[in-house]
Amino acid sequence: MSPIGVFDSGYGGLTVLREIVKSLPQYDYLYLGDNARAPYGTRSFETVYRYTLQCVEWLLKQNCPLIILACNTASAKALRSIQQNDLQRLHPTARVLGVLRPTTEIIGKHSATHHIGILATNGTVQSRSYEIEIEKFFPDVTLEQEACPMWVPLVENNEHLSAGADYFVQKHINNILGKDKNIDTLLLACTHYPLLKEKIEKYLPQHVKLLSQGEIVAHSLQDYLQRHPEIETKISKDSRRIFFTTDSAADFTAKASLFFGESIEGKHVDLY
Ligand code: DGL
Repeated sequence: MSPIGVFDSGYGGLTVLREIVKSLPQYDYLYLGDNARAPYGTRSFETVYRYTLQCVEWLLKQNCPLIILACNTASAKALRSIQQNDLQRLHPTARVLGVLRPTTEIIGKHSATHHIGILATNGTVQSRSYEIEIEKFFPDVTLEQEACPMWVPLVENNEHLSAGADYFVQKHINNILGKDKNIDTLLLACTHYPLLKEKIEKYLPQHVKLLSQGEIVAHSLQDYLQRHPEIETKISKDSRRIFFTTDSAADFTAKASLFFGESIEGKHVDLY
């Protein structure tokens, strides 16, 4: 088996894999959630890089010709170093892609006012990766960012539908919209956040559009595979999906369907 590897700090990447599988069901996929060390969003650059690299190395050993970092924090803090410094040494013909680039390439087209808000983890906001990348593709876009550090723990602990979650959702939505009255598009720049979508929409004025990344990333991957037959032909195509977690397999199996939309069985792996 030579599957597409999909990585996240925990469950969030499953919201991306779910959309990828809808668009590209023919490929084999191997998911790895580093649940034992999630969340990544509050950790330092060095730590996120070290953790992500360990996970990428494991996915390469499982024979993945292509790996998607379905995690904004890892894409913002670790992807460039892995692409530029590590991949050549570890596996020069394999490819590692992130979720930031596909999003920043098209985001300007979604906004009429060209005022956009980014909702993300502390790590993603502090990296300024969205600012830097969006500036390249859409220099006329005005960007505001808001770190929502409680949102991932709420989702990971299955509290995202609870009344308590409303407080943190409303607080950050009010904060970001208060920074710029012309914002008409908000991006959920963390792969955990789609689970909070309904709650977020409750606090949004009607003219503000909420974007998640799953479909954007799936579309971009489809395009990438068409443009890179040298990678595409290496991926096995038996529609198999295998799920690994660095924490408890039973917990993963119990929770993952919430993110993936269908029940799946997680297996445990010891990476460290
Ligand atoms: N789901 C990840 C992201 O997209 C990170 C969540 C976390 O581990 O803090 O940023």
